[in-house]
Amino acid sequence: LKLKQLLKLWVNLQPTLFVLSAHLWLKNCRELMPSSYNASRFDQPVEASVWLKNFRITNERFLKQMKTQQKYIWSKREFTDEGHPLIEVIDQGLTRVKNASDSVGIVLKELKAQCQSGTFKLVVGVDGVNALWGQTTLRKEDKSPVYPGELTLIHNLRKLMKNDWNNGAVVATVTQTGSLFTPKAAYLPHELLGKDGFDFLDPFLPIQVTGYSEREFESCYQYYKDRHWIQHEKAHTEDGKKELIFLSNRNPAVLERICSFL
Ligand SMILES: *[C@@H]1O[C@H](CO)[C@@H](O)[C@H](O)[C@H]1NC(C)=O
Ligand SMILES: *[C@@H]1O[C@H](CO)[C@@H](O)[C@H](O)[C@H]1NC(C)=O
Repeated sequence: LKLKQLLKLWVNLQPTLFVLSAHLWLKNCRELMPSSYNASRFDQPVEASVWLKNFRITNERFLKQMKTQQKYIWSKREFTDEGHPLIEVIDQGLTRVKNASDSVGIVLKELKAQCQSGTFKLVVGVDGVNALWGQTTLRKEDKSPVYPGELTLIHNLRKLMKNDWNNGAVVATVTQTGSLFTPKAAYLPHELLGKDGFDFLDPFLPIQVTGYSEREFESCYQYYKDRHWIQHEKAHTEDGKKELIFLSNRNPAVLERICSFL
């Protein structure tokens, strides 16, 4: 929740790129297709389309201003020429679902390149970034496991995590949910990211996220009530609120978990 709040501040200022719950790309994928670009990689047309749709909504203004830096060929007759609005690449991915995963890759690559000049400043938010170096529940036809790096989406997202571009910022969280197959007791960044992930992201600035302040707690509590997530009448009383503070110690995740039973 905190990451989302932080990034919301930027939404109207510059292109903002979110990947919420990155681990969802690693499991229950509805369709896995061999990539047309590299036969040993896999496209996820459904996941890619959903992401493109959301990204288009939040960044339409910028996507119309940004121009492609090279030509992209979609089929014998269809292409997006150099110097065209970047939004055309997204719309191509949305109309031709087969190209959706590559369309995400192109957009990420173009954004990264276009930030170099300083005209745009990109904010990238990834919730559960450790999923990028974890394991997947996906299997190939021969039943062998699919590794995250073999997924077009993850491959391209990793490139954005690299410390080789400027005029932007990456804000990421590590989450226990993002670490499929990691022991439940593991929670430190190094444990969740593993050596590969940790080394890849290095150097980074760790930010300690403390529990909610009194005001943050209050606004979250009111929000949960408003959404009817907190329904039990006793939870609506002053004593009930105090109990929630006591039980959660104002930890956002714990509060969410406790309230899911109310
Ligand atoms: C779009 O999809 C077609 C058919 O799968 C493929 O031949 C083409 O290379 C793709 N274009 C891009 C830019 O990925
Ligand atoms: C194709 O993808 C695989 C798996 O990610 C990678 O090891 C290989 O280098 C890629 N090949 C090319 C030509 O990019």
